[in-house]
Amino acid sequence: MPNPTFAVLGLFSDAQKIVDAADKIRPRKLGRLEAYTPYPVHGLDRALGLAPSSLGKLVLGMGLLGAFLALVFEGWVSAVDYPLVTGGKALFSWQAFVPVMFEVTVLFATFTAGLAMLFAFNKLPFFGHPVLHSRAIEDITRDKLALSIESTGDDFDTEAAKQALLVEGAESVEIVPVPTWDRPLSLVGLLRTGAAIAAACVVSGLGIYAAIKVVPIVPPMLKMHDQPKLNAFRSSSFFADSRGMRPAVAGTVARGHLPPAFTAPEEAGALLSNPLPLTQHTAERGRKVYNDHCAICHGPVGDGVAQLSHAYGAKPKNLLSNEMRGRPDGYIYGVLVRGKNAMPSYAPDLDENDRWAAVHYVRILQRSQNAKDEDLR
Ligand code: HEC
Repeated sequence: MPNPTFAVLGLFSDAQKIVDAADKIRPRKLGRLEAYTPYPVHGLDRALGLAPSSLGKLVLGMGLLGAFLALVFEGWVSAVDYPLVTGGKALFSWQAFVPVMFEVTVLFATFTAGLAMLFAFNKLPFFGHPVLHSRAIEDITRDKLALSIESTGDDFDTEAAKQALLVEGAESVEIVPVPTWDRPLSLVGLLRTGAAIAAACVVSGLGIYAAIKVVPIVPPMLKMHDQPKLNAFRSSSFFADSRGMRPAVAGTVARGHLPPAFTAPEEAGALLSNPLPLTQHTAERGRKVYNDHCAICHGPVGDGVAQLSHAYGAKPKNLLSNEMRGRPDGYIYGVLVRGKNAMPSYAPDLDENDRWAAVHYVRILQRSQNAKDEDLR
């Protein structure tokens, strides 16, 4: 007949006593030593003969792997798959990759820690443990510490284990029998759990519905939502044509966006001159507009060396050439407003003053590259 004992539990009230008892009992090899304590006890893992956990090394390894994978991925994307110069930096600028590398390191490390703890180290899912059915469990989860000698086979000597615990100062001992259930996870149990989860979802859903619609506990949001207003894409009974979204009145012009009175840039060159006086303020405004809207194609100094990827087929003009220096201000303004071939119109993005400020700045770039002696004095 097999030994019906799962384990012998000895209860202690003092953390140091349980460590000492484990130290003494372990060499006697009476069975597998285990401890159940309501809080972590220093030195107990050593006394039980447990090897240090390898979780730390695992987390470190996976964190480093995350950082490495992020570096390789970002490097491949920015330098190989779609090379794009950003802010004049080298294609493979590892410094710019650091934030994402950091995030991926943390992601890999935390997921490894959580999942390895649950499934590898704590061997979950785990439904029920014989000690949970002991009488002592109530005390163990409150203030008692239990040292347990667990059976390793038929030759387990229950009486010897009991005596050893009592000799080492256990206040009481309890024999925990091998559980009588054969499968802790039954179909009925699963169905019950599923039904309980479903019931919880229904109850909380109804609760939230009631809190919002029936007994409005969150009135400000509710009122904002229900106030009379025009929904751009809904019909409205307010206007005769029942449209919510109103078309602009015919002939409407946005402030600073008068339609140009010319068609070709040459025409603008002959008609218009720069109305903005060149001041420190205008020059700085022009530099900002140029750097934000033009430098990506025409280059930071205007020499036409674009920062764009080769995927942008067209060749932006060198704005410093003699041809460009000979063009009147109005011409440059005209190109900016109307666009030219592959260059789109920038009129929708820039108001009148910004456009002319950019023209001033193109002139400044031209002059800076063709400075005369007098300019240096
Ligand atoms: C998307 C890229 C791009 C941007 C941004 C861009 N340009 Fe251009 N630009 C071009 C290209 C391409 C050409 C050459 C067009 C052609 O084929 O004649 C050009 C030509 C020009 C020319 C010369 C036109 C001629 O007579 O040949 C001027 C002047 C000019 N751009 C001014 C500007 C200004 C000012 C800005 C900023 C508001 C700007 N560009 C922004 C691409 C761009």
